[in-house]
This record gives sequence, C-alpha cells and structure tokens, in this order.
Amino acid sequence: MQIRFIFFMLAGLFSLQANSQSLLRGPYLQSPTENTIVIKWRTSANTNSKVIFGTDSSNLSQTVVLNNNTKEHAVKLSNLSPSTTYYYSIGNNTTYFTLPSAHYRFKTNPVPGSAVPTRVWAIGDFGKGNAEQVAVKNSYMQYDDSSNTDVWIWLGDNVYNDGTDEEYQTKLFELNGFSDVFSWLPFWPSPGNHDYNTVWEESAFLGIPYSNIPLEDHQGPYYDMVHVPTQAEAGGFPSQLELFYSFDYGDVHFLSLNSEVFDFAQTFEGIEQMKQWIEQDLIQNTRSFTIAYFHQPPYSKGSHDSDDAFELVMKAMRERVVPLLESYDIDLVICGHSHVFERSKLVHGHYGNSQSFDPATMLKDGSNGNFNQGNAYIKDGLANTPDGTVYVVCGNSGSKEDAPALNYPIMEFVDGGIEACGSFVMDIYKNRLDGKYLHMNGTVMDEFTILKSNLTVEIPDVFVCGQEQVVVASAINGGSDNLHFLWSINNQSSDTILVNTQHVGPHQLTITDSLTGQVVTQNFTIILANGFSVQYQNDTLFAQGLANNYQWYLNGELLNNANDSFFVPQQAGNYSVSSFYGSCLSESVYVNPQLAIPVIKASGIALYPNPASDELTIEVIESFIGKTYQIYSSSGELVKKGKLDSIKNQISLTKLPTGIYSLQVLGQQESLRFVKK
Ligand SMILES: [Fe+2]
Repeated sequence: MQIRFIFFMLAGLFSLQANSQSLLRGPYLQSPTENTIVIKWRTSANTNSKVIFGTDSSNLSQTVVLNNNTKEHAVKLSNLSPSTTYYYSIGNNTTYFTLPSAHYRFKTNPVPGSAVPTRVWAIGDFGKGNAEQVAVKNSYMQYDDSSNTDVWIWLGDNVYNDGTDEEYQTKLFELNGFSDVFSWLPFWPSPGNHDYNTVWEESAFLGIPYSNIPLEDHQGPYYDMVHVPTQAEAGGFPSQLELFYSFDYGDVHFLSLNSEVFDFAQTFEGIEQMKQWIEQDLIQNTRSFTIAYFHQPPYSKGSHDSDDAFELVMKAMRERVVPLLESYDIDLVICGHSHVFERSKLVHGHYGNSQSFDPATMLKDGSNGNFNQGNAYIKDGLANTPDGTVYVVCGNSGSKEDAPALNYPIMEFVDGGIEACGSFVMDIYKNRLDGKYLHMNGTVMDEFTILKSNLTVEIPDVFVCGQEQVVVASAINGGSDNLHFLWSINNQSSDTILVNTQHVGPHQLTITDSLTGQVVTQNFTIILANGFSVQYQNDTLFAQGLANNYQWYLNGELLNNANDSFFVPQQAGNYSVSSFYGSCLSESVYVNPQLAIPVIKASGIALYPNPASDELTIEVIESFIGKTYQIYSSSGELVKKGKLDSIKNQISLTKLPTGIYSLQVLGQQESLRFVKK
C-alpha cells in the first residue's frame, strides 16, 4: 500500500514522456569542470529545456530552465562544488524524461592541480555499431572500479563511415550497451578521418575546397554533437576552437589534438595553427602528468603503416607535432586509426620512418615497463629535460584488422587480428601512472608504469623559544605516498618531530621515495628566537623578533588567518603574537584602533589607510609642506620619493609590490611603517 502510494507520488512529480514529444538522444554529459557541467539531449518536438539536480537523489532541489524552443538541448549547470556527485533529471516545463536514479548522475572535477586518484578509459575507432564495440564496452564495465571512471577519452573514428548525424544516432546513442554509459560518464572526444567525412562534405557545400578548409570553418554533425572547452574552462590554455582543446583532471593535463587539421594541399597551415596553441598550452602547464591524444598515430604497423608514402597525416604528426610535444617532455601519446593495439617502450627523438629508429640514441628505457618486475619507466618530472614518452595505439575498440604486421621497432607490446579488440585503461595518482591494455575478453594483456622522481622538500628555518613541532608534510612536493623520513636529530623517522632550544644549530632531513628510489636531502637550521614583542605604529601591529611564521592573538584567543609579521586590529583589546607553533609568545599590548585613525602622530605625520592598496594619504602638520618624503622597502631600498604639497597628500602605490614599507620626511628622525596589501 505504502509502496504504491510512493509510486503515484513520483509519477505525479515526474510525468514521463507525454505523447506529443519524446526523448530521442541522451541525456549525455560534456565539459565537466570543478564547478560546471553541460547536459545535452535531443527531443522529437521543440520544447524548452529544464534540468533539476542536487546531491541527494531523492531531493533534486535545484532547477535550471532555458526558455528556448528547441530539439537540441544543452543546459549548463553552474556553481557546483568540486569532486561532488550530483543527480539530475531532464525535461521541460510540462514533462520529465528521466526519473532520478544513480543512472543519471555526474561527478564534478576536482580542483585543478589537486592530486587525486584518477581513472582514465580510452577507446578508439569504436563506432561501428557492432558486437565488438559492445564487448569492449562490457569488458571495461566489468573491470575493476569502472563505475568510478573519471575521464573517458575518444581517439577518433567515433562512428563509421562518414560521421553523419544518423550514424552517431544509431551507432552511439541508440546502441544497446553503449547508451547506458552516456548518462553518467562525460566523454572528451577527438575526431578521426571518418568523423571528418561530413566536415569535408560540408565545406565543399560551402564552396571551399576540402583540401584546405580554414579551421574556423570546420563544422558538421561531430561538432554539433560535442561540447568541448574552448576558453580553458577546465584548465589549460584557451584554444578558441572546438577542433582541439585541453583540460585538467586533478594533477593530470590532457590535450585533445586533431590530426585532421592536416590539409591535403600540404601547406600545413592548420597544423601550424594547432602547434601555436600547443606551445602556449604546454609552456604554462605544471601538472605532474601530461597526456596528448589524437586520431592518426605517428608510429604504427597495423591496419595503417606509418612508413607508407601515402600516410601523409601520420607523417605530418610525427615530423611536425611530436617534436613539439616531446620538447615539453609529454608522458604519453594515445592514438587510434590503426585497428590494432600497440604500446611503445620509453622513447625520445624518433621523427623519421621506422628504419631511422636508432635505439642507441632514441631508446630511453628498453624494458617492458612492468612495475611488479622492477622495470617501471622512471622520469625526472622536469618538463625541460625530456626523458621519454610512451606511445599507445588503440584503434581496436570495435574495429579490427586481419593479420597486421605489428613489427614497428619501438613497440614493446602489440595485439592484432580478427579477435583482437580492446581498450586502454590508466590509473594515475601522485607520481605514478599505470597503463593497461584490456582485451574485450576481460584479460589485461599488457601493463606498464611511469614514475616521476619529482620529490622536492623545502623546510624553512625553525625559530624556537621553548618547544616547537616541525611538520614535514607541508614542506613536501611531488613523490609517492610511500615516503620514508630520516632526521639528523636523534635519527628519528616520523613525519613530525619536536625540537627545543637544545637543538639550536644546523640539521638535515633525508626523504626516500620507496617507489622511485629517489633520495632528497634538505638542510635546515634551528635558531634561537629572542626578544619577541609587539609594536603598534600607524594603526598596525608589528611583530618584533626573529621568526618565519607568526600567529596573532586577541585577548588570548587565536585569530584565524592572522599569520603575517604584522596585523591591523579592527577592535580594541589585548593583542599578542607568537611564533607559529606558539613557543615564542610576546607580552600583550592594548590597542584601541578607533582612537587611532587618522590622528597626527607625535612625528607630525599620519598615514592612512593602513594597510593601503593603491593609494596612501600622507597627512602632515603645516610646517612640513614643501619637504621631501622618501619610501623604503623592508630591505632598505629607496622605492619612491616626492614632495609634500599640502596637508593631505595622496600618493599612488600601484607600482609597489605587496609588503611592509617605511616612510620618512627628510629632516625628521622618525620613520613610519605602512603595509601595501
Ligand atoms: Fe581512422
């Protein structure tokens, strides 16, 4: 009885699919960022667009309605929280097409740069609408933890043969087994030559010879279907075009490139335009791992042979794009197009045909890369010292090739033939990337690991009065989650130690990353802090005495985020300051800021506001008019001077960096401090 009642409640709330209109495509998810996502779907009749969503599937409390009238719906949800799972329903003002359930969910990206375990699934040349396409998908969905996939990338030839709207509809959206992924897993596409057949057709229709279409004019069903970032919404550098783009997921940077920008007039204009963007993107990239993917591979001996004279696109990518990617020490290049699986060793500098491969100079690590066998590929983590890239071809996620040669000399593992379909899976966390080839029969046939020796540590000097706690975690960057510590103080091995005044002097911390074997040693000094006190000057409290971290207190209570060497009090009370961990606590000083602004000081000068941002007022007594003032930085450098023209003098601070400054009127003893914030 109760169950039936709930059902009617739901049915009333979510009246499904009225007769006059139905859902033809989707919903599917595009361009997730840390706080936005785009939900797309297609209806049989023109309607407006409505999405309700929330973090509780039984209470979708937020609503976005677009008062449009369309069959092609694209609704962007904004102001979402990072790394959060949301549930959603789509529809319009009269109907919901989907009931809330775990099937209709998405997870927002983590904050760019944060190190989080990241699962990536890559498929290429899959859009045949055949049994193999479904088997590859099913094998992955049954694979370990696939429901927590973070990034799904498409390597092109997303449908065959011509990238028509009908083909996308029947071979992706309606295909049994494939459609059930779209509602919860966004895909990050790149186009292949088959997706581009319609792009070329459309340009011919516009009267442009397809051999040389300006990139801005690339259009067609592929571009209608996808919604990818062009303005670096998900990280990276804005590409301005949907043809190629980049995004971050946590601490991993992805570039979706486009081998089809090659023009058969061979002017390479499109490739050069893409390269200009790649350079701008990679020069600012600081992520731990960087992965590029595009359709036509630089190296293959599968259904395509990159040595063949007519493989002009593969050659152009190898000769013109790969050197640029390698110059930024890219970690992985993943492609499709050749209907096989091929995975290289760690290589660098191979830009000719296969015969030009010289292992002596181009092979950075000739092992199989297997972590469990002690063969992981180890790179130094510095983008300016290229130490090798792994190349993967995975053009067999639905396509296959009978008896391919598969004898490209850089390859470590290959799979091909009429039974050989599969996908490529990656798990990335901190300084470790694991790549796996998952055959459609569920077997992991190849696995390799790339590790980064990217551990650095920087411990500031420690100032002690009594006892201080030294926490090393905040001083570490990079490395794995398997670090070992050795302090020169009593050979301690914990990640936190206590030091006191007896330890004053030089010390050392040695950290070993047990995954990479990297050892990092850092010297630091423990310094006796003396004379800790507070001075109040010009409406600002200044900490006196040696320290490198501060904490301010009001009436003995800790003030949040008050960790500079100065503090501007807003209310009256007793203020004191300590070194960060509290061992050097000053005497407290009573301050009433309400009485202080802008009273002329005994010196004859008042400075306000303090801290100042772009403008500072120097108010002086009349006898100072005509005198020169000078402003010094905290290191004693003269940074600005000028004449006092009146009682109130406004001066610009826009050119001064943030910091503490002192101002002196020439001929006067006292200098006044102020803060530029
Ligand atoms: Fe292809």
